[in-house]
Amino acid sequence: MRSFSVVSGSPAQTALIATALAERLRPGDIVLLSGNLAAGKTTFVKAVAEALGSTDPVTSPTFALAQFYATKESRILHVDTYRLADVEEYRDLGLEEYQEDAISLIEWGEKIAGEFPCHLAVSFVATDEADGRSLTFSATCDRWTGALADLHAAISKDTHGAHAGDRDIVD
Ligand SMILES: Nc1ncnc2c1ncn2[C@@H]1O[C@H](COP(=O)(O)OP(=O)(O)OP(=O)(O)O)[C@@H](O)[C@H]1O
Ligand SMILES: [Mg+2]
Repeated sequence: MRSFSVVSGSPAQTALIATALAERLRPGDIVLLSGNLAAGKTTFVKAVAEALGSTDPVTSPTFALAQFYATKESRILHVDTYRLADVEEYRDLGLEEYQEDAISLIEWGEKIAGEFPCHLAVSFVATDEADGRSLTFSATCDRWTGALADLHAAISKDTHGAHAGDRDIVD
């Protein structure tokens, strides 16, 4: 499976979706989050960190650009590229050496997608309904094409009876 979309009807539901992903993440994984201001990217990262047992405070790293959160088995590298002018500025941060062992979650990640031939993209788009967000998960490599069907099934199950999953679009 290359991509699927689900609709979240609330921040809590976005957290459930993020938790399903968290359970499948491994060190070295790269997750690129895209979507407008207040689309829900940081909300999603917070839920991933909590699901992985982190007690570190998750904040928007807009000013720090990057921060680490300790988790039970690994650590999360949370990056926000919003204020970066270009990919050179990203490279200058020197994060690459940490990304092999960490789970990287990068807000405004589409700006630097070319740096990561293998990544999971998660894009957030507000729907017409209040608090509605459509989340599209897209794979760019075997690591993720191989994992998406299972992730999609888990999200549909976890959000069963709720709004998410009502309008699944599977590619
Ligand atoms: N379904 C939803 N999923 C996620 N957040 C939602 C949802 N509905 C409403 N919200 C609200 O939208 C806001 C999302 O803010 P958040 O900081 O996560 O966005 P962001 O995409 O990280 O923005 P930025 O680009 O400024 O970093 C929060 O106030 C959250 O409560
Ligand atoms: Mg944010």
